[in-house]
Amino acid sequence: MFGFNVEKVRKDFPVLSQRLVYFDNACMSLKPKQVVEKMNEYYEKYPACGGRSGHRLSREVDYQVELARREVQKLIGAGSQEEIIFVRNATEGINLVAHGLDWEKGDEVIVTDKEHNSNLIPWLKLKEEGVVVRVCKGNEDGTFNLKNLRDCLSKKTKLVAVVHVSNLDGVENPIADIVKTAHANGVWVLVDGAQSVPHKEVDVRKLDVDFFAFSGHKALGPTGTGVLYGKKDLLNKMCQFIVGGQTVLDSTYEGYDEELLPKKFEAGLQDYAGIIGLGEACRYLKRIGLKEIEKQEEKLNKLATSLLSGNEKIELIGPREAEKRSGVFTFNVKGMRSHDVAKMLDASKGIAVRSGAFCVHSWFNAHKIDGAVRASFYLYNTEDEVRVFVKEVEKICELV
Ligand code: ALA
Repeated sequence: MFGFNVEKVRKDFPVLSQRLVYFDNACMSLKPKQVVEKMNEYYEKYPACGGRSGHRLSREVDYQVELARREVQKLIGAGSQEEIIFVRNATEGINLVAHGLDWEKGDEVIVTDKEHNSNLIPWLKLKEEGVVVRVCKGNEDGTFNLKNLRDCLSKKTKLVAVVHVSNLDGVENPIADIVKTAHANGVWVLVDGAQSVPHKEVDVRKLDVDFFAFSGHKALGPTGTGVLYGKKDLLNKMCQFIVGGQTVLDSTYEGYDEELLPKKFEAGLQDYAGIIGLGEACRYLKRIGLKEIEKQEEKLNKLATSLLSGNEKIELIGPREAEKRSGVFTFNVKGMRSHDVAKMLDASKGIAVRSGAFCVHSWFNAHKIDGAVRASFYLYNTEDEVRVFVKEVEKICELV
């Protein structure tokens, strides 16, 4: 009703009053004060355990945790709260699936050639059990190639594990098409949504994905929080990974009865403040509106791209068109190490970017590139900040 107002949004992020330009959002987002206050509320008003004791503080924890679960459910369009498992991050969620499914020697998993280590290493580790990992190559410009996926599928394929939006270049993969293709072959799909949930509207039921993982720390939420979504029947079939307190209904010296979803996978005392803070982050994202956030990031990326992509000393990674790269601008300055560029940007104007291989070592190794510089934009970034960044990058270009 009132429209998106970046200056108003910035007031929610006290750290922005410092002299800095924060463009490392694909790694870690800043946290609005509403999230910090909500976490403090836990420590100040009901700092007790959940799921066990019956006293009022504990009951309040249970209530707040389930409210947070509901916020997550609404944010990603899950069918029920039982399908939302709280984990520490997307990595842990993906590991949970890798350990929880029943693998047979010769089973195949397909990944893309642009996976973050979090959605590559858990599958590579399954090679120890005889699982085969196939890599589906993308197009030259980093976009997804559906034909290559069809070629990778075989009678032995059990799962396609694919990133939704790449942390390398911001390219969004066509998840609905990938799911249709995989399901037509009786194959499940797991999506790494770490870079999509914070930046665009996601509906896991519309996409019909089987598993979906994301991290809280990239989505305005606390560090050490994340979510695994899974279709209920699949989660029910999956075996437990970490077990102990809260994961059982009853136990004897001989054995135990498994808890029901979602607690079956949430062992031990939880990071209640974090979970409750994550719920608040989901509320905040919905209140601002994911469509508005996506628009703001696209606007900033278009500006950075139009001002820098013509510079012959800049090598852009990913498609030329800004609108195909979400809020991500990854590049190299020819003849300069990415870490040096990043250090200069920080030293001159306090511009925070990521440099190196961003945990996508496999892609950099395959392309024989040492690393790159990544500026990733978010809802609180402005066009003025992009202009400051562009000016500093241009100065660095003049040094080579
Ligand atoms: N996924 C994080 C990044 O890309 C670590 O920077």
